[in-house]
Amino acid sequence: MTYAQIEQQNGVAVIWLDQPGEKVNKISLDLLDGFSEILHRIETDPSVKGVVLISRKEDNFIAGADLDRFRQAKDPAPVEALSRDGHVILNRMAAFPKPIVAAIHGATFGGGLEVALACHYRIATDDPRTVMALPEVRLGLLPAGGGTHRLPRLVGLQKALDVMLTGKNIYPRQAKKMGLVDEVVDPYTLLRAAKMAVLELAEEPLERKKKRTLLEGLVESTSLSRMLVYKKARQMVQKTTKGNYPAPFRIIDCVEASLERGLEAGEQMEEKAFGDLAMTPQSRELIQVFFSMTALKKNSLQDQIRPVRKIGILGAGLMGSGIASVSAANNMDVLLKDVSPEALARGEKAVWRELDEKVQRRILAPFQRDRIFSRISGQEGYRGFEKADLVIEAVFEDLELKKKMLREVEAVVREDAIFASNTSALPITSIAEASVRPDQVIGMHYFSPVPRMPLLEIIVTAKTAPWVTATAIDTGIRQGKTVIVVNDGPGFYTTRILAPLLNEALMLLHGGADIGEVDGAMRQFGYPVGPLTLLDEVGIDVGVHVSRVLGPLFAGRGVQADEAMETLFKAGYKGRKNNRGFYLYDPSGRGKKKDVNEEVYSFFGGRKRVSIGEVEIQNRLTLVMMNEAAYCLQEGILNSPRDGDIGAVFGIGFPPFLGGPFRYIDRLGPRRVLAMMEDLGNIHGQRFKPAGILRDMAAENKRFYES
Ligand SMILES: NC(=O)c1ccc[n+]([C@@H]2O[C@H](COP(=O)([O-])OP(=O)(O)OC[C@H]3O[C@@H](n4cnc5c(N)ncnc54)[C@H](O)[C@@H]3O)[C@@H](O)[C@H]2O)c1
Repeated sequence: MTYAQIEQQNGVAVIWLDQPGEKVNKISLDLLDGFSEILHRIETDPSVKGVVLISRKEDNFIAGADLDRFRQAKDPAPVEALSRDGHVILNRMAAFPKPIVAAIHGATFGGGLEVALACHYRIATDDPRTVMALPEVRLGLLPAGGGTHRLPRLVGLQKALDVMLTGKNIYPRQAKKMGLVDEVVDPYTLLRAAKMAVLELAEEPLERKKKRTLLEGLVESTSLSRMLVYKKARQMVQKTTKGNYPAPFRIIDCVEASLERGLEAGEQMEEKAFGDLAMTPQSRELIQVFFSMTALKKNSLQDQIRPVRKIGILGAGLMGSGIASVSAANNMDVLLKDVSPEALARGEKAVWRELDEKVQRRILAPFQRDRIFSRISGQEGYRGFEKADLVIEAVFEDLELKKKMLREVEAVVREDAIFASNTSALPITSIAEASVRPDQVIGMHYFSPVPRMPLLEIIVTAKTAPWVTATAIDTGIRQGKTVIVVNDGPGFYTTRILAPLLNEALMLLHGGADIGEVDGAMRQFGYPVGPLTLLDEVGIDVGVHVSRVLGPLFAGRGVQADEAMETLFKAGYKGRKNNRGFYLYDPSGRGKKKDVNEEVYSFFGGRKRVSIGEVEIQNRLTLVMMNEAAYCLQEGILNSPRDGDIGAVFGIGFPPFLGGPFRYIDRLGPRRVLAMMEDLGNIHGQRFKPAGILRDMAAENKRFYES
C-alpha cells in the first residue's frame, strides 16, 4: 500500500499524503514510514533542494490518529512504543538537512499537526475547512509526537499551554498571528507557495521572528518565571477539572520537562504519559464518546434525504437567531420571521454580534461574515416562504401559539415542506394535531446558545415520515450538530432526564442542604455548572413550565414534582433574567453571579442549613437522572444507550469522562446501581423506584455495552 507518493518538480520533491481507501489521512506508523522512506531516498539526491508535504485528500491534511489502536491496547507498552517510534521519525524530519514545508489544507488535528510542527515551514490555506488543533486532551490523552516539546518553542509557553490544555480549534488567521503557521494563502496557490518557500529556504535559512508580546517574552524568559506559569496552569486545571481529568496535568509536566530539561527528558515523559493515559478509564470513556459522535455523523437514512436550501425560521429570539446563524453559516438561505421590527432587529443584531466576534477572533474574514449575514432576510410576514424546504418554529413555549404557527405556515408553504418545532418539552404529537400533513411534522430541539452547543435532539412522532427524519438529520449535520433521534413524549429525552435531577436538587434544599454545597458537589462530580445555577440560567419560569408538562408523566409513577419551584415563580423569582434566583446577580453591568441568595431559604424551611455531604448529593442527583434515562430506553423514547449517553453528555452536561449515564451504570454495575437505588428508595420513596429495565439487567447481570 502506498501512503505517500513523490513527484519531483524543479528541484522540489512533493510528497503527496494519500491513505488508500480512506476519506481522511490518519496518522499511523505506516503513513510516517511511507514518507520517511522517501526522505531517505532524497537525502543524498543532489537534484532535490527540499520537500513539500501535502495531502491529496479534499479537506484534510492529516485528521488525527487512528484511535482504534488505543482501544485495542491492553497495557501501556505498545502505546508508549507508538509515541517512541513517532518521535524517531519526526525528529529525523526536524533535523533533515533540506527544508521541508508543510502545505496545510483542511483538518489538521493531533498527530497531523505534530507532523506539520516537525516541518521547517508551514503554509495554511484560508479555506473555512482549514482548522488546526491538538485535541488529544479531549480524549484524555496528550500530544505524544513531540507536540509538548515543539509547540511551546514555536508559539511560546503560555499560548502552547492554552492550545494543548483546551484542545481548541485554531483557524488559519489565528495560527498566523500566534506564529503556528508562517503564511496563509488561497487554496489554489498552496502548492506553488509551498514550492517557492522550499526554494527560498534552500537558499537562505529562515530567521523566524518570535510573535510573543513583550509581557509574554518577559514571563517566559527565565526558568524562575516559567515556574510561576506552570504553577498557575496547574492551579487553573485543578479549579476547572476538579482533578477529574489526569491528562492536563501530564501535559504541563511534559512541557516543563522539555523546556527545563531538554528534548530527551521531554520525549521520555511524553512516551510514558501517553501509555499511562491511554489506560485510564477517563480516556477510554472520552474515546468512546468520540466514536459515538463519529457514528452519529452518518445519516442512517441517507438515501431518503431531500435537499434543504432555504429555511424559514419563526421567532428571532434567543433560539431563532441562533438557528438562523448556524444555518446561514452552512450555506443555507434563511427567512427569519418575527412579529415586530424591534424583535427582528434584536435577532439580527444577535447574529451579527456572534459573527463579528468571530471576525475579531480571526476565525472569519470580514467578507465571510458579510456573506453569511446576507443569507438571512428578516421580515414580519411570510414572503418567500413558498420557497422554503423546511420551517423551524422557535416562538414562545405555548402549545396553542405553536399550533397557530403550524396552521399559518401550512397555508403558505409548498406541500412538501417540513415543519419542525424547537419546543423544549411540548409533545410534538400535540403540536402535529393542528397539521393537515402530520407526517411532515418533526421536533428539532436545539440547545442554547445554538452556535456553541453541539447537540440537536430530533423528535419523531408515530406519523413522521422517514424522509422527513432523514432530511432533518441531514440539516442538523450540515449545521455542524451531533444529532440524536428520539421518539416523542413529554420532555423527549434530554429535558425529561434533567427534570428529576433538578427536582432532587430542590428536595435536598428542603432537607436542609446549602445551595452552594449542592452546586459544588455536582461540579466536583464533573458537571460544568451546578443544578441550581443551571435553574437560574434556564429560568425558574421555564422550569415551572417544563415541570407542568412533565407532571402527569411522573405522577403516573407516583412521583409528585416539588411545589417550591411553582411557589418561587409566583413570588417573582425567575432566575438570572430578572436577577432573582438561587443566587444574587450584579444588577449593574453584565449581571455577574455573586453570592447565594439566602432569601430563597425561606421557601425551604428557613435559613438554618446542615451539611448533607458531597457523596449523598452526588448519588441522589445522579441516580435519579440515570434511572430516568433507563425509563426512556425502556419506553422506547431512546433507540439506543449510545444516543442516551451522547444526549446526556452534550445536552445536560453529564461528565464526559464518565461516558454518559448508560456507560456509568455499566461501570458501576447494574446490580450495584439497583442496590443503591433501593437504599435511597427506602428513605425517600417512590422517586427512586428503579426502572424495570434496571432490575432485569441486574437480575441477568447484563450490561448496556459489550465493552
Ligand atoms: N432558551 C432556551 O434555552 C431554549 C432551549 C431549547 C428550546 N427552547 C425553545 O425555543 C423556543 C423559543 O425560545 P427562546 O428562548 O428563543 O424565546 P424568546 O422569547 O427569546 O424568543 C421567542 C421569539 O418568538 C417571537 N414570536 C412570538 N410570536 C411570534 C409569531 N407569531 N411569529 C413570529 N415570531 C413570534 C417573539 O417575538 C420572540 O422574539 C421555545 O419554544 C423554547 O421552549 C428554548
